[in-house]
Amino acid sequence: MSKKVLVLPGDYIGPEIMAEAVKVLEAVNRRFDLGIELEHGLLGGAAIDAHGVPLPDATLALAREADAILLGAVGGPKWDNVERHLRPEKGLLAIRSELQLFGNLRPAILYPQLADASSLKPELVAGLDILIVRELTGGIYFGEPRGIRTLENGEREGYNTYKYNESEIRRIGHLAFELARKRDKRVCSVDKSNVLEATILWREVMEEVGKDYPDVELSHIYVDNAAMQLVMRPKQFDVMVTGNMFGDILSDAAAMLTGSIGMLPSASLDQNGRGMYEPCHGSAPDIAGEGKANPLATILSVAMMLRYTLGSAEAAEVIERAVSDVLDQGLRTPDIYSEGTRQVTTVEMGEAVLAAVQA
Ligand code: NAD
Ligand code: IPM
Ligand code: MN
Repeated sequence: MSKKVLVLPGDYIGPEIMAEAVKVLEAVNRRFDLGIELEHGLLGGAAIDAHGVPLPDATLALAREADAILLGAVGGPKWDNVERHLRPEKGLLAIRSELQLFGNLRPAILYPQLADASSLKPELVAGLDILIVRELTGGIYFGEPRGIRTLENGEREGYNTYKYNESEIRRIGHLAFELARKRDKRVCSVDKSNVLEATILWREVMEEVGKDYPDVELSHIYVDNAAMQLVMRPKQFDVMVTGNMFGDILSDAAAMLTGSIGMLPSASLDQNGRGMYEPCHGSAPDIAGEGKANPLATILSVAMMLRYTLGSAEAAEVIERAVSDVLDQGLRTPDIYSEGTRQVTTVEMGEAVLAAVQA
């Protein structure tokens, strides 16, 4: 049966990294006869330029019909001054919300070949394998009321609402515990329950969910301490589960432990395992068009897509092994370069992974 994958390249380095990921996807599609059909759509700044909105109806319709979505990255200075509700990032948030992609998996794994590329000492990160499970369709990102208003004294005030209801917390909790069962069976829930009511409830509900998983150890940590522990002793963590905003911040920090944010893939899943796959990084306007972008996070997102939504763990493993092979060959984009390795461009890195997949 054929499966549809919607490709949304996005902005700045988005199309550059996507071109390499698509080559790899097409190669495994042929090799394993997966019957994947690619469709293409516009999201973010590219959609604003073509249609005036960051998430055109046509893109949303294609997204609803697709089995999986592969996204590059959206946003950048070109659209920083458009109206707030039309920003590229709003398109990304809307597609996550419309498709109910509440479960964001961000695995921070250190490839041993990159121990020298991490900003931490090699012994602190050797063997690192953390899974951040970030709630993606609630919390302060979506809470109402929100806005910028003018007070009676003429001063402006910006405000947002941080809220989570029990069912939102419960479903991300269950996802985290289920995933922990397949790993080291430890869940650390990250909150700020010493200050914020929304996360007092978060902690309570996590405790309740944890009762269904007596085989999984549950611990709790405040987000400020979690940030410190991540850079002090990152290997203490197995699965970290947290809300939308904390997960956004902690996953960028975790990315650096793996050598570069250009190495961190992600999956955003709905209740039925359908999903959108994207690198954790943004559109990197500072390096766009220079062949410097690392395509591996996007290529590894293709592997996650094959594993979690398209049911081909075998093809996923081939891609992951190919990435490891090119690192063994000493190939490095500038973000992961260290002495004694060979610096390559985005396209050269993509071609090398392609060759390894076909070998
Ligand atoms: P960014 O992740 O784009 O870049 C941060 C730093 O990391 C930059 O120095 C960049 O050059 C580097 N970097 C990022 N990806 C890289 C890669 N693949 N290879 C090598 N280096 C890489 O974050 P930013 O600069 O804060 O944001 C830029 C734009 O991207 C903003 O408009 C932001 O809203 C958007 N953004 C989009 C997504 C997404 O689409 N999922 C995620 C994050 C940020
Ligand atoms: C991410 C990004 C997005 C987020 C932005 C671009 C809306 O930073 O996917 O990590 O904050 O979720
Ligand atoms: Mn982010």
